Amino acid sequence: MLFLGSDHGGFSLKKELIEYLEKEGQEVIDLGCDNEESVDYPLFGRAVAKEVVLNEGSLGIVICGTGIGISLAANKVEGARAALCTNGTMARLSREHNNANILALGARIVGGELAKDIVKIFLKSTFEGGRHERRVGQIEETS
Ligand code: RB5
Repeated sequence: MLFLGSDHGGFSLKKELIEYLEKEGQEVIDLGCDNEESVDYPLFGRAVAKEVVLNEGSLGIVICGTGIGISLAANKVEGARAALCTNGTMARLSREHNNANILALGARIVGGELAKDIVKIFLKSTFEGGRHERRVGQIEETS
């Protein structure tokens, strides 16, 4: 399952990505926002992160203007690993090394075509485990 969420700044890119993903046969769940009226990104970052953590094996995509605020909010949810990516290499390594379960995008930073490439790479990459397992485990430690 793939959960998506954005604020007003990410709304238009989210719509474009949903259209692309559905054409590719990917089932998506859009947790808002629903238009370009100003909203607060933490609500949507948190909503996606909570669903991703609850639904084992699922992934999320969160989008705001820069991708920064919404990724910070998503990462406050225990078990969420949101990675802000601006290129395909970051997307691939965020899955292979960091076991990222949420991709964060900045709609003011990446254009639609680049965002689609980043999403495609994020979704097809998988966690390598091994030495990365221990490090990812350490991310969950709070002290
Ligand atoms: C909203 O204006 C903007 O602050 C938000 O989309 C995001 O860029 C925050 O990190």
